[in-house]
Amino acid sequence: MVNGLLKEYSPYLEYKDGVLHFDGVNLEELARELGTPLYVYSANHIRDKIRAYKEAFPGALIAYAVKANFNLGVIKIAAEEGCGADTVSGGEIYRAIKGGIPADKIVYAGVGKTDEELSYALEQDILMFNAESEMEIEVLNELAGKKGKKARIAVRVNPDVDPKTHPKIATGMKKSKFGIDINKALDVYRWASKLPNIEVVGIHCHIGSQLLDLSPFREAVEKVADLYRKLEKEGIRIKYLDIGGGLGIKYKPEDREPSPKELADIVTPIVKDLGVQLILEPGRSIAGNGGILITQVQFLKEKDDKLFVMVDAGFNDLLRPAMYGSYHHIVAVREKPQKMVCDVVGPICETGDILGENREICDVGRKDYLAVLSAGAYGFVMSSHYNMRPRAAEVIVENGSYRVTRPRENWDYIIWKEEV
Ligand code: LLP
Repeated sequence: MVNGLLKEYSPYLEYKDGVLHFDGVNLEELARELGTPLYVYSANHIRDKIRAYKEAFPGALIAYAVKANFNLGVIKIAAEEGCGADTVSGGEIYRAIKGGIPADKIVYAGVGKTDEELSYALEQDILMFNAESEMEIEVLNELAGKKGKKARIAVRVNPDVDPKTHPKIATGMKKSKFGIDINKALDVYRWASKLPNIEVVGIHCHIGSQLLDLSPFREAVEKVADLYRKLEKEGIRIKYLDIGGGLGIKYKPEDREPSPKELADIVTPIVKDLGVQLILEPGRSIAGNGGILITQVQFLKEKDDKLFVMVDAGFNDLLRPAMYGSYHHIVAVREKPQKMVCDVVGPICETGDILGENREICDVGRKDYLAVLSAGAYGFVMSSHYNMRPRAAEVIVENGSYRVTRPRENWDYIIWKEEV
């Protein structure tokens, strides 16, 4: 029963003899060995998700959105599976290349690229800049000219589609800062295609993240396909149609996770006759349920008829619940027959440091471990040193063995080069 639910999060997550295992590794032993808080990523889960995309979209470039989880070990898995990378900063391009992604499979979006970042990306000869403003294209034209290069660009168009997701992660609506109004795009393409150091090669859009209802994709891709046809008529030849990321994942027990195949069933009929290479930028749907956060119970306390379970992971480790009010399912690493209802709270000195409210979990005590699920995307990457807390270690598990891919930080690491 419990294992049935866990498998809906990840087929690699299960209780064996009462102890939670991930990709064949006993998580209680792992936590004892490596300490907590601990991010654990399943290599097999991540591989399977990438393969599902490749099967659903044959011939497409799957540009893994490294912003979701930029751990080098995770990027290396994506590289081994033939992925490209979607990046949003010079640092992410640097990481993607370090992780083994070839530069000619890297796309680069972001509204505020600096000259240094643009220059670095030009030197690396990345596949395509997803340009977000006319001014950016002008600057890129200049910088490319100085280097004697041509910058390949896509215009990131804002299709004004409501993705029906959390307002903070909706990006494709008119009022958001992202992209260029799709109704203005034709003029921008006409202008950009005449610039001497710019090669217009693509159209890019990304409407938002954590989409469980896929109908907004239809609306967005239809608008983009329409733009493609208009450009073709004017002799502006587009090679790449980059439709961004956004496929949602299961967070709540009642969520149903859409598959890449379901997305393909919507997208493929619209684009199949266009003669373009499709690019997708999935992040969360690859890494999200491929990761969990293990935390240790420090204390328990009853207050005003409420039971608080105080753990050693706070919103410095996993910001999503505090920032978006996101639900992350929490289970005990060791199963117990007795259950209790509690608030799972972190050590940060803020009332909002709550990982889970009113949760029914196994009757845990001091030093027991809890697993926070669906933490593989936008987990570690959004962590901070708030309250002088070193960031968690990250470990990859695969077929019963593990490798630490990032060690736990310590206080000296945090104050590195700082002076009194
Ligand atoms: N491409 C672009 C241009 C993006 O901005 C994003 C995400 C993606 C791809 C990947 O989207 P995904 O497949 O992961 O949905 N921190 C938030 C999510 C922010 C998403 C930002 N952009 C969260 O924790 O929910």
